[in-house]
Amino acid sequence: MKLMETKTRKAEVAHKIIETGESLLNVVWSKADARRAASLEIIARTAYTAEESACHYLETIGLDRKGSIRETLELARYQDTNEQTHEDIFARDLNGLKNWGDRFLARHIAVIIYWAFAITTLIDHELAALLGEAVEVEAVATYKRMLVEQSDEWLNQPAVPTAVRYWNKPNSMWKVRGDNQPMSMRDVVEAIVKDEADHVHANSQKAVAF
Ligand SMILES: [Fe+2]
Ligand SMILES: [Fe+2]
Repeated sequence: MKLMETKTRKAEVAHKIIETGESLLNVVWSKADARRAASLEIIARTAYTAEESACHYLETIGLDRKGSIRETLELARYQDTNEQTHEDIFARDLNGLKNWGDRFLARHIAVIIYWAFAITTLIDHELAALLGEAVEVEAVATYKRMLVEQSDEWLNQPAVPTAVRYWNKPNSMWKVRGDNQPMSMRDVVEAIVKDEADHVHANSQKAVAF
């Protein structure tokens, strides 16, 4: 079951907006495979990059009196690095964007998402964070689906280099959580499911930060 951690009416609306957007993306990327993951990770990661930029802006113009915008920015940056790892695993290592059409569509949507999230963050940061939370709820579902839909052969292939490098970083989400070194892609996808669940929680916290 797909559930938002934030239980407000606004959170419900945010989830509906994201579900609608995702149903459009499902027309192109329906299978829970490297193609879908690579494309959707670029889009998801860009939302964090936009949040960082907008928080920087708000800080620059002197609105961060309590330091909560800076904290939100730091958290978005941490999430951005984690999402970038997901993107690199599926787009670089597993060549999920090998089709020109996928690259074209994913990158153009990502640019639109960048501006949409940057502007929404400036106007209504709570809504931007709730939209982010909804994206992450859907991401948890996608990666759970990947664990069921992908073949054993695919899941048992060795963990890709980006995943091992990320695990080795002292402050990576995987190290901080105390995960074992991923040996197979199954371990990697299981770690990513946990990441996305962490993102759901972090975004629900960010929604009430400022
Ligand atoms: Fe991700
Ligand atoms: Fe995520």
